[in-house]
Amino acid sequence: MRILSGVQSSGKLHLGNYFGAIRQFIELQSEGEALYFIANLHAMTTVRDPVRMRALTFDAALDFLALGLDPEQATLFRQSDVPEIPELFWYLSAISPMGLLERAHSFKDKVGKGISPDLGLFTYPVLMAADILLYGSEVVPVGKDQVQHLEMTRDIATKFNLAYVPGYDPKRDEDPKTRKVEGILRLPVARVQDGSASVPGLDGLKMSKSYGNTIDLFADDATTKKRIMAIKSDSTPVESPKDPDATPVRALLALFASPDELAEIDRSFREGGKGYGHYKVQLLDLFHAHFDAARARRKQLEQDPGYVEGVLARGAERARGYGAPVIARCREAVGTR
Ligand code: ADP
Ligand code: TRP
Repeated sequence: MRILSGVQSSGKLHLGNYFGAIRQFIELQSEGEALYFIANLHAMTTVRDPVRMRALTFDAALDFLALGLDPEQATLFRQSDVPEIPELFWYLSAISPMGLLERAHSFKDKVGKGISPDLGLFTYPVLMAADILLYGSEVVPVGKDQVQHLEMTRDIATKFNLAYVPGYDPKRDEDPKTRKVEGILRLPVARVQDGSASVPGLDGLKMSKSYGNTIDLFADDATTKKRIMAIKSDSTPVESPKDPDATPVRALLALFASPDELAEIDRSFREGGKGYGHYKVQLLDLFHAHFDAARARRKQLEQDPGYVEGVLARGAERARGYGAPVIARCREAVGTR
């Protein structure tokens, strides 16, 4: 099974990124041929400072490695180190209908949040399709918000196959038994992690760096504590029973707690006698128990940029090897070779 996913290097990683996406990447690395990349070309839609751009890309590599990505098992690379990506992006752009892109929620959402409506932002899903299709990826682990992009990727791959593969029948492509003519581009499926599909932020809205409501994985101890203590709660007195859903603390605790621990937490909310501060301290303890090893590993890796750079260089080479047969067939099909 070929697994592929990417994360934009546009800011610091937070609990939403981890439980919605990265934890799943790490778990999947032993289940197939996994490729994970730092989507720094995508990040250019929002990051305009080259110094920051380089630093964020490097930070993302540190994050992945610290959180348990094993470069012997999985291929970790920088998107910009694979020149076949922008090439395939163009082949796909040439056949992608405007109407398809105009339906993308993410473009509208991002423009709504104040990101400049540039062509790169508009064609973001086509670049993402190139990322996925270049390696014949089968499974793409992503957060819920990326599912539409995966559907667009399948649509674009189908369009390409229809345009360039004589006798290609999309209805038959789904099933190897009925398939007569294989497409050049393989249709991937999204894998969304259930349970933690939407992690709430400090204010109860979806945790997102653009809302400023995150709990970051690698902030220093004092900042982490300050953030967790700032989670929204109401003024219910300590002794009174509390509705577990009145504060995002409960949903955040649920990310770490076992089912038994969670049942106990819910019981204690309803019983009363404990203030919100108590649950926040419990969350802080669980956060540290879960992430302290990765936090220490990241500090060590920071001291060894040569090692990290080596991992990325080897990763890019391996990724280009996986992509080579697909891009060769695309060039042949479109007639650039
Ligand atoms: P942000 O919203 O902070 O900019 P990104 O859009 O860069 O985060 O998301 C990177 C990955 O993390 C995506 O796969 C996305 O689905 C996942 N993700 C981000 N925020 C959350 C969240 N609050 N809950 C679950 N998954 C999330
Ligand atoms: N768009 C994804 C995000 O914002 C990042 C990404 C870029 C990606 N290319 C990809 C994810 C290919 C999966 C596969 O999170």
